[in-house]
Amino acid sequence: MQVVHTVADLRATREALGASVGFVPTMGALHEGHLSLIRQSVAENDATIVSVYVNPTQFDNPADLERYPATLAQDVVLAEKAGADMVFAPNYAEMYPDDFHYRLDETDFSRMLCGAHRPGHFTGVLTVVMKLLNIVSPAAAYFGEKDYQQFQLIRGMAAAFFMDVDIKFGPTVREEDGLALSSRNVNLDAQARAQAPLMHALIDSDRSDDEIREQLTTAGFEVDYIVSHDGRRFAAAKLGGVRLIDNVPLGESS
Ligand code: PAJ
Repeated sequence: MQVVHTVADLRATREALGASVGFVPTMGALHEGHLSLIRQSVAENDATIVSVYVNPTQFDNPADLERYPATLAQDVVLAEKAGADMVFAPNYAEMYPDDFHYRLDETDFSRMLCGAHRPGHFTGVLTVVMKLLNIVSPAAAYFGEKDYQQFQLIRGMAAAFFMDVDIKFGPTVREEDGLALSSRNVNLDAQARAQAPLMHALIDSDRSDDEIREQLTTAGFEVDYIVSHDGRRFAAAKLGGVRLIDNVPLGESS
């Protein structure tokens, strides 16, 4: 398993991996959600590259960026165990030689849901993912259903710019109590952690969006949105200062 930090080193070593490279972009603090995407890529490609880069341009809130967990040494061990061949861990100077003067904008869906509450967030995401895909040149790239809006926007970007990459998604991995795994969950205190699964339980029920908003607010969540859109219910809320997002396909509640 190789760990490379520069675009030049990535390109020099990537050639030896062959044509069928699968790519899993992450911001690190790897958990089972990331690892399931890595395993999917390992199963479907000759080689797998994982990127670990906390991309500052997608954070609208400096405090959120400040306390985003950084655990590269552990991430490298976990990525290797899951079968990855290479970890790409660049820094800002490496990723943004233009200092973010060039950026990729989507003017419709990126303004809804998370985009409406986190101005500029998806511009940062799309810009860094475009850069990463251009650097890595994978045959396929893997994204989680948990961030479904992100996945759809990236798939749309790849189509709009005729990018030669297959954009795939893997299912949301959850704790036993239904809470979607997230690198931010470590920032939940015990009380918030106990409350957190309520969001998934409610969005996966047959209650209306408005009822769910009300119940979550009563339970102490600061709700950003509960929106049913295009066959899915999307939710975002802060709990104990930690932002949680989730979504489920509609019409499949038990
Ligand atoms: P990050 O939050 O680290 O997530 C990396 C990938 O793992 C994303 O595709 C995300 O949807 C997926 N993922 C996270 N939690 C998951 C879960 N519980 N189940 C399944 N998949 C899960 O998303 C990002 O980083 C960044 O925006 C990135 C795409 C790397 C660009 O900076």
